[in-house]
Amino acid sequence: MTAVALAGVTKVFNAGRTDEVTALATIDLTVENGEFVSLIGPSGCGKSTLLRLVADLIQPTAGTVTVAGKPAKQARIDQEYGIAFQQAGLFDWRTVQRNVELPLELRGSSRSERHDRAREMLELVGLADFAGHYPAQLSGGMQQRVAIARALAVHPPLLLMDEPFGALDEMTRERLQDELLRICASTGTSVVFVTHSIPEAVYLSHRVVVMSARPGRITEIVPVDLGERGEATRQSPGFFTGITKVRRALRGGPVPAEAPA
Ligand SMILES: Nc1ncnc2c1ncn2[C@@H]1O[C@H](COP(=O)(O)OP(=O)(O)OP(=O)(O)O)[C@@H](O)[C@H]1O
Ligand SMILES: [Mg+2]
Repeated sequence: MTAVALAGVTKVFNAGRTDEVTALATIDLTVENGEFVSLIGPSGCGKSTLLRLVADLIQPTAGTVTVAGKPAKQARIDQEYGIAFQQAGLFDWRTVQRNVELPLELRGSSRSERHDRAREMLELVGLADFAGHYPAQLSGGMQQRVAIARALAVHPPLLLMDEPFGALDEMTRERLQDELLRICASTGTSVVFVTHSIPEAVYLSHRVVVMSARPGRITEIVPVDLGERGEATRQSPGFFTGITKVRRALRGGPVPAEAPA
């Protein structure tokens, strides 16, 4: 079964008005179970719009969005995915702990289950000591890590992430990239991940979807075959080849031939 399938998806905002925008035009994209797919492209090309369509936060103007074999709306009701978006989107009046517990509350988990799972997730993102704090008492990067913990709390089969590491320092970012890959590998979670960073997209993904702006389209899909990731991956020739391929695709230039081994 596929995790996500978009078929002929078009999204027009403000249709028929002077400020009409075609954010996405005839997008076809399939994400397999356990696959990690990144979206990359210039600002305004429709990456967040695509993710919001998958999350059923907005509806397509044309085409169909299927998540875990169901219409997007049903998948949302069934909590088939967790989301971590550009803004952390935490509730100011809830502690860190209770923010992470929220999706478990919606699912009707018991109090002790909620507590334990939230603790486990906060430990994972290195914030166990801040469970009793409120979001306003945390830095932007820490808030973002709480949002990631919350997205993971129900162990969803699919994660939708919109520049989740954008506000983090480089070392934390690399650590969380590795954590995310470890979690995905051990749970079989599929991910659709938006980023502006070419190295991040290449490091994380099985495939990098390159998009162009106005109207947002997929111009190229770059497969990445780096095997198991680790510290050495970031220095490997294959990693740099992947970066070059994605950079060329973003510029609209020819893809270079494979570098000799
Ligand atoms: N709710 C909305 N109403 C009207 N236009 C919108 C709305 N949301 C997005 N758009 C427009 O759709 C286009 C795509 O926006 P989107 O946020 O998906 O881009 P993006 O690729 O995520 O950009 P960035 O990299 O800057 O986050 C933009 O032209 C934007 O102005
Ligand atoms: Mg965006």
